Amino acid sequence: MTKRITKAVFPVAGLGTRFLPATKASPKEMLAVVDKPLLQYAVEEAIAAGITDMIFVTGRNKRAIEDHFDPAYELEAELEARDKQDLLDIVRRVKPDHVDVYYVRQSEARGLGHAVLCAEHIVGDEPFAVILADDLIDAETPVMRQMLQLHQEHGCSLIGVENIAREHSRAYGVVTGVPFGERLVQLGGIIEKPAPEAAPSTLGVVGRYLLSPSVFKHLRGLVPGADGELQLTDGIAGMLAEEPVLAYQFKGLRYDCGSKLGYVQATVQFALRHPEIREEFRSFLQHMPYGQAPAALQVPAITPRPRNQAVAAQE
Ligand code: UTP
Repeated sequence: MTKRITKAVFPVAGLGTRFLPATKASPKEMLAVVDKPLLQYAVEEAIAAGITDMIFVTGRNKRAIEDHFDPAYELEAELEARDKQDLLDIVRRVKPDHVDVYYVRQSEARGLGHAVLCAEHIVGDEPFAVILADDLIDAETPVMRQMLQLHQEHGCSLIGVENIAREHSRAYGVVTGVPFGERLVQLGGIIEKPAPEAAPSTLGVVGRYLLSPSVFKHLRGLVPGADGELQLTDGIAGMLAEEPVLAYQFKGLRYDCGSKLGYVQATVQFALRHPEIREEFRSFLQHMPYGQAPAALQVPAITPRPRNQAVAAQE
């Protein structure tokens, strides 16, 4: 029987340059979608998969993360005094008692592969999860749980993938391989940030991994790859000669919350479902007062096309 996975690594030491200035003093993983930081969604996904040890690889802005997952005695006392039991429950649920958190420092942002390597001494010699909190995935069954079930079945490393537009390949690791059953591909190769014409497929890696500890050996030997960083995908590529790795097309909808557009899309979707605000927010979207909005928010009017003109040109 495959060993139960209890540890998840959350690399949160990136510079988050696409989100400056919001990320100047706070990690992007602490940006909130409606009322919950991205990192807490990720931790909840891990907990739903039965993971109990959360390992945060932090950088220069680690304070906000430590504060978030630390007990907040003063705040709790204040809420208790005001008889705010519902809010107290929300605060206490951030880190349930059966969950332990660990912090590892990545002193320099040398890439995702390097960040994961920094957690080696806490992970030890057992398979582990890696979750990138800026990939927020909305799924009926949390994606980590889907992947853990597959790991139990197949006993090998798995990486989450989704179909991407070929023209976006430079933003992803892209995989090739052979079909291995429903939603699974046995990895033949993996390449980081290929040009669209060089991309071997349109299956792009997203931020969910279940890795065998052998990945550390390959990460240790890495030289800087795409963007001059030590890439996790290059470490995984190193594993392929020695052991099978499966790419899994998860069930769920991913929002790239490391980009402004993905973050705003996630915010709108999650707000439309949030019990406290969904009705009013839906109504707001339906009746957005474009006419009174500042010019930058106004949607340009559509000018009717002169009859036959453009159509004739297309025909
Ligand atoms: P990204 O590729 O999104 O990089 O990292 P970034 O630096 O966070 O953001 P941009 O591109 O400058 O806007 C993917 C994940 O890997 C972590 C990030 O925190 C994020 O969760 N990461 C990246 C590290 O922990 N360390 C690194 O050296 C690089």
